[in-house]
Amino acid sequence: MTMEKLTMPLVRTTEAAARAAEPWIGRGEKEQGDGAAVEAIRQAMATVPMAGEVVIGEGEKDEAPMLYNGEEVGDGEGPTIDIAVDPVEGTNFLAKGMPGSIVVLAASLSGNMFRPGPGFYVDKLVVPAAACGKIDPQAPLASKLGDLASALDKQVEDLRIFVLDKPRHQDMIGEIRSAGASVRLASDGDVSGGVMAALGDSVDALMGIGGTPEGVITACAAKAVGGDMVAAMAPQKDDEAAKIREFGLEPGQVLTMDELVKGEDLLFVATGVTSSDFLDGVRHYGEVVSTDTMVITGAHGTVQRIHTEKPMND
Ligand code: FBP
Repeated sequence: MTMEKLTMPLVRTTEAAARAAEPWIGRGEKEQGDGAAVEAIRQAMATVPMAGEVVIGEGEKDEAPMLYNGEEVGDGEGPTIDIAVDPVEGTNFLAKGMPGSIVVLAASLSGNMFRPGPGFYVDKLVVPAAACGKIDPQAPLASKLGDLASALDKQVEDLRIFVLDKPRHQDMIGEIRSAGASVRLASDGDVSGGVMAALGDSVDALMGIGGTPEGVITACAAKAVGGDMVAAMAPQKDDEAAKIREFGLEPGQVLTMDELVKGEDLLFVATGVTSSDFLDGVRHYGEVVSTDTMVITGAHGTVQRIHTEKPMND
């Protein structure tokens, strides 16, 4: 499988970016931290044995420093690969020194990832393997929760749903609570929430509107572990609806797991920058720096954690 050969070089890439972003923790300068991660990714990817193309670079949505869509990455020698990358996911967390910022990327064989074009936002539903194919994304929220509970052999009252704490979700949060389930709120960071949901780790689903780039990255991880995800185009920005129509997509259009990412040969790699219960952040022990990375590979659906220690100046 192609991704097996790319795993360690891409782990070294997210590790390097997390170390590069770490000096920007708590400095209130989210773009500087993002920029440091972008540069580290470019440098580390130059030696990865692949002819990679960044199909999702993320910077455009926030006008942040970006790995631009169409950018060629890798040494140009190996297999042709689609790369989706979020140099710092949770830039506010990084700038504020709060838990939950990560460096994250996903890879698939070329042509297999959904190209969102100008579609910056999608409405996401991510569930663990036991609920795969069992939730109708068009059903009313209370029915979705009922079906999820049955699929997971739980009561609705036992469900915990990850939701971004945004004004647009206030009604949904109320409905989830009225149905009896609980809500785990986070101001940012729905990649972590989505991966935890796909793994059934502390939450039973992710619901709500977030970034499309983050959605495609989450889809790679969710598919690799056998979970399920659907995403509906949900334009939020001025002109976003008109732009996605011009691009050939419709507001509300539902994308299934296989439309978000095709194939099984997938890789998801995330390294923590600031510690959270998803990943440890970059840590210093005297002259040693440690990183914590999660690697999910699609071929076998394996989830690994890699703890790396390096001298500070390496
Ligand atoms: P960045 O830190 O990468 O900009 O994204 C953080 C994030 O919270 C994502 O996890 C989420 O998908 C998206 O932003 C939501 O966007 P918005 O804050 O514009 O609603």
